[in-house]
Amino acid sequence: MTDKNTEIIGEITRLKKQRNAVILVHNYQRPEVQDIADFVGDSLELSQKAAKTDAGVIVFCGVHFMAETAYIVNPGRTILLPDIESGCPMADMITTEVLVAKKKELPGVTVVCYVNSSAAVKAESGICCTSANAVKVVQSLGNKEILFVPDQYLGQWVAEKTGYKMHLWPGFCPAHMKILPQDILDKKKKYPKAVALVHPECRPEAKTAADEVLSTGGMIRYARGGSVKEMIIGTETGIIYRLQKENPGKTFIPVNDKVVCPNMKRITLEKVLWSLQELKHQIEVPEETRVRALSAVERMLVIA
Ligand code: 13P
Ligand code: SF4
Repeated sequence: MTDKNTEIIGEITRLKKQRNAVILVHNYQRPEVQDIADFVGDSLELSQKAAKTDAGVIVFCGVHFMAETAYIVNPGRTILLPDIESGCPMADMITTEVLVAKKKELPGVTVVCYVNSSAAVKAESGICCTSANAVKVVQSLGNKEILFVPDQYLGQWVAEKTGYKMHLWPGFCPAHMKILPQDILDKKKKYPKAVALVHPECRPEAKTAADEVLSTGGMIRYARGGSVKEMIIGTETGIIYRLQKENPGKTFIPVNDKVVCPNMKRITLEKVLWSLQELKHQIEVPEETRVRALSAVERMLVIA
């Protein structure tokens, strides 16, 4: 660690105590940001942590919709996003206007909304889900007419697992799109003993070429347990740091080096420090939207 980083971390630790803050970090964040976390996890685990914390301030090292979700479940806290530009392009592939119009076209439809969406879109949805619980959430609805938004590929996978026909929104993750079936086949040839794990946001052909389809939290648990020693990792490469740190005797091979989410990488130690110093950027949601979005998130949290 550089002297500069040691200084910044010392100051973050001091301010965190002074402000009664907790630092929640997504699995895709930079190694040095993961290292200052009170908790590192996937979207579901982070929203559960945010709902339970009694810290006055939550510094959310992730993307905008994650910080918004923390506010939805815990509005009494100050929620800080160290870089306001840290958004999720998939979440921006749906707007409330178009969703409301689609609901009119499909009267009686239940909207299942992936957590990678704005608070306003959640407010227009019946129930929320994450990649860790999407199958369980959809199964809990029974065989209703469902509109799954905004990730078509998570939706496609859930439809396959549940056997339900669902209307799918045409959204996708630009980072996971970079995983091609050939990448998995090439890596399997090079590492014949390795098991290939991919995220459900990957395209269907990539999921077919893989051995397991898991959320980032699911990958962490899979790596921890069992006798598999070599894994090909088909998700954002930031997760490799945590996998390797927690499992020093195992080998983790990125499916390719291009799977990087630039938005996740916007958050740096300097920005975390600045965020705690200035109490910026505070993420809030208008109360009327928050209450409606909370109902979709709470319905998920009782199932998860
Ligand atoms: P997880 O919930 O699996 O961590 O996924 C979040 C995400 O944004 C994946 O791209
Ligand atoms: Fe959004 Fe994809 Fe980045 Fe996840 S990896 S935050 S889905 S753009």
